[in-house]
Amino acid sequence: MSSRTAFVTGASGFFGANLVRELLAQNWKVIAFHRPSSNLWRLKGLEIELRSGSFFEQASLDQALPENVDAIFHAAAKVSFWRSEDALMKRDNVEATKLLLDAATRRKTKRFIFTSTAGVYGYSNAKVDEKFVKEGLRSKSGYLRTKAEAELEVLKAVNRGLDAVILNPATIVGPLDSEHWGLTMRKIKAGQMKGTPPGASSFVHVAEAAKAHVAAFEKGKPGRNYILAGTNATYLELFHQMEEILGLTPKLKPIPEIALQIFAELSQLASHVTHKAPLVTPELLIILAGNTYCDSRRAMAELGLKPKSLEEMLRDCWNSLPPA
Ligand SMILES: NC(=O)c1ccc[n+]([C@@H]2O[C@H](COP(=O)([O-])OP(=O)(O)OC[C@H]3O[C@@H](n4cnc5c(N)ncnc54)[C@H](OP(=O)(O)O)[C@@H]3O)[C@@H](O)[C@H]2O)c1
Repeated sequence: MSSRTAFVTGASGFFGANLVRELLAQNWKVIAFHRPSSNLWRLKGLEIELRSGSFFEQASLDQALPENVDAIFHAAAKVSFWRSEDALMKRDNVEATKLLLDAATRRKTKRFIFTSTAGVYGYSNAKVDEKFVKEGLRSKSGYLRTKAEAELEVLKAVNRGLDAVILNPATIVGPLDSEHWGLTMRKIKAGQMKGTPPGASSFVHVAEAAKAHVAAFEKGKPGRNYILAGTNATYLELFHQMEEILGLTPKLKPIPEIALQIFAELSQLASHVTHKAPLVTPELLIILAGNTYCDSRRAMAELGLKPKSLEEMLRDCWNSLPPA
């Protein structure tokens, strides 16, 4: 079988770089679309074609996106829980997706795979599946709102005839994550972590999420959502697993939600003066203090998603970190 070609956005990020590796492992040709300013350390040494440009300049997008490409994997997004970046997220998550969908139609892309988030189904303290209402559209979090709005753009394009599939990962953990869980592990090791978030969530190994994206090219149904999760745990369990991997005796305790809420409100106020992103925000607490689990049976049945243990996810994350 001749090799397929993927046009990948967000390839310089944590998930995108893992997706690129999975595509290469499955013999795809990869074109990684990135900003001129992107730090490409996660893509070093890979046999891919790098094309720089902007979603917001049609000529640069059309020049980078080949005609009749097999698939666009659109993983790029601005991920922030700081309300000062809401306008930026509207632009990077909604407008950019709309422009890329238009380009996909113009350039006759065969299939569009959109990376959304399970968070669009809301944090209702229930076990969510793809039949849940997308509460994200009404979320006070700009991130969750703009991801849900981007999904609407994808669905509008499907109605206009584009072949697209939407994947909804829960919390992704694994290699090449130096900024989120990797950073948390470094802080635990350095004794800088004071406690754990009080909530619970669903987790997916980044390699499994990447495999499900590639499987969606062949097996995903047009216009369909697939939640990618599989491992449900409290943050306390997650952090204790991190401590064990780091060779420490698990001793961190949950921080009461009320204390985190007060800290988040104060941090939010302080950010107006410092203009720096707060460590914790009320929007981030929707996730960290929520108790929402995900049901991934659809992705397991249709895309072959295989849940992994927290231990495997975190060990792979820790072992991949570059020296501090
Ligand atoms: N991490 C998770 O737990 C998780 C969970 C659910 C869903 N997701 C989704 O997975 C995707 C990847 O997330 P991630 O955790 O890998 O985030 P990440 O590490 O922050 O990567 C984000 C990527 O998007 C790119 N990007 C952002 N704005 C852009 C723009 N205007 N033009 C071009 N590229 C832009 C970034 O490029 P630069 O390098 O130039 O900044 C980077 O490559 C996102 O769609 C996110 O919503 C993530």
